[in-house]
Amino acid sequence: MKTLIVYDTKYGNTKKVAKLIGEGLKTIEDNEVIIEYVEEIDLNKEQIYDLILIGSPNHYGTYTKPIKNFIANLPESSLKGNTYAVFGTYMYKNYQRVIKGMEKQINEVMPNMVKTSPGLSIRVATNKGPIKDEEFPKCREFGIKLSK
Ligand SMILES: Cc1cc2nc3c(=O)[nH]c(=O)nc-3n(C[C@H](O)[C@H](O)[C@H](O)COP(=O)(O)O)c2cc1C
Repeated sequence: MKTLIVYDTKYGNTKKVAKLIGEGLKTIEDNEVIIEYVEEIDLNKEQIYDLILIGSPNHYGTYTKPIKNFIANLPESSLKGNTYAVFGTYMYKNYQRVIKGMEKQINEVMPNMVKTSPGLSIRVATNKGPIKDEEFPKCREFGIKLSK
């Protein structure tokens, strides 16, 4: 299985979550995982993935503009994915709005892409993190679940 994990981040926590999910996915030997910062992704490069994971920090109860733009540009891009799932980091509230918002937009622009799992929300201790201790195992487990 070939997976692309796209993330946005301000303080590095969502990037860390992306890496931990990637580690979970790679527990199956043949799985290939590519992790990309949303601002650096090349949408003109032809790539086909079995799974695309998209992750964003919660900013004022929603996901970030770069992630919005990335999803909006997906249909016209050379990047193709058969299935998707989303993840987010948050500090205290409205974490479901981030997950639901991303899923809604993806469903609108790419109605044929199948959601392969409910989204994952990971809590951080302060705006800058770190990820709360009890949240760490959830990231890897999410990846392991998706790898099967
Ligand atoms: C501008 C801004 C707005 C935020 N708004 C919220 C919010 O509405 N709800 C919440 O739970 N966390 C909020 N946070 C905390 C972020 O969720 C937290 O900084 C983020 O998850 C850390 O991820 P990152 O290190 O990948 O940037 C906000 C943070 C920033 C910087």
